[in-house]
Amino acid sequence: MNIRLLFSFAAASSVAGEVDFFFWIMVALCGTVATGIAIFLIYSAIRFHRKHGNEMGSQIRNYIPAEIAWIAIPFLLFMAMFAWGSKLYFDIERPPNNAITMYAVGKQWMWKVQHPEGQREINELHIPVGRPVKLTLTSEDVIHSFFVPAFRTKQDVLPGRYTTTWFEATQPGKYHLFCAEYCGTKHSGMIGWIYAMPPAEYQRWLTEGAAEGSLSSRGEKFFHQFGCANCHHFYDQGRCPNLRNLYGRTVQLASGETVVADESYFRESILDPNAKIVYGFQSNIMPNFTGQLNEEQVIALISFLKALGPQPGTGQPSSSGTVPKGYGTQPGIAGPGATSNSNSQVQER
Ligand code: CUA
Repeated sequence: MNIRLLFSFAAASSVAGEVDFFFWIMVALCGTVATGIAIFLIYSAIRFHRKHGNEMGSQIRNYIPAEIAWIAIPFLLFMAMFAWGSKLYFDIERPPNNAITMYAVGKQWMWKVQHPEGQREINELHIPVGRPVKLTLTSEDVIHSFFVPAFRTKQDVLPGRYTTTWFEATQPGKYHLFCAEYCGTKHSGMIGWIYAMPPAEYQRWLTEGAAEGSLSSRGEKFFHQFGCANCHHFYDQGRCPNLRNLYGRTVQLASGETVVADESYFRESILDPNAKIVYGFQSNIMPNFTGQLNEEQVIALISFLKALGPQPGTGQPSSSGTVPKGYGTQPGIAGPGATSNSNSQVQER
């Protein structure tokens, strides 16, 4: 095996440097401890070996300073690594508030990416350098894993739910994207490229193509095409909840529980509407869309619902041109500012 390959991965994201540093400190610490134990073991075997046949060993018990030392020192060292590792883990798991949201769907055997501006890509992902990008991931079939070695990020992609990952590229370039979960015959071919571009170049790339309009406008098209608009009204109370300014709010359910209206809640309510009935509304009114919509269409619809506002922290509708005017209040849905999910940056760039 080519040893250079082991060390030649580019480190091109905002967390990559610290991940590498952490890794090498961990290697050094474990290596030092393991070497120390091995040396002491060999030394003891030579120094204290039985010199004649009937020699008896002498037991030394309760040598407190040594016991405290070998418990406390490794404990403190490795707890420090645990604390550092946890902090790093949370940095990697929590997308910054100003992240651009993109969507990726894994499918045997390809990655399908959707940008909020409307671009769609297969096995390619174009991102700007110096901006955090949050990816919402799901799968249409089996478990995949979104792995970008140069960014030091790997996230399982599961059917039936959303997971997220984020990264901020620090250097322009072309980086490998892998599927890191065995997902069938052509798993090894489920690879692609991430193109990290200078912001100006990325803006230029965005303006090429995207003739179909933004992701949320595609979602709006589906909203009418699949008959959602017949019951979900924006101006008056329809048979189903008004979806304006819903994103990020706390919703009171008929069961007495509450739920935050995030992407996963939207997805579940589209595919299995009876799973969570909003307080004051009836069950079995909305048809089940499982099998009617693919994951990309669901993502477009969710993007539309997010564009219906509110923007995080403001309680105001977003600036999307596709959104009807007016603000509906209704049972079950908390008023402005009740809660705010900080990741609804569909329009805000
Ligand atoms: Cu998808 Cu392996």
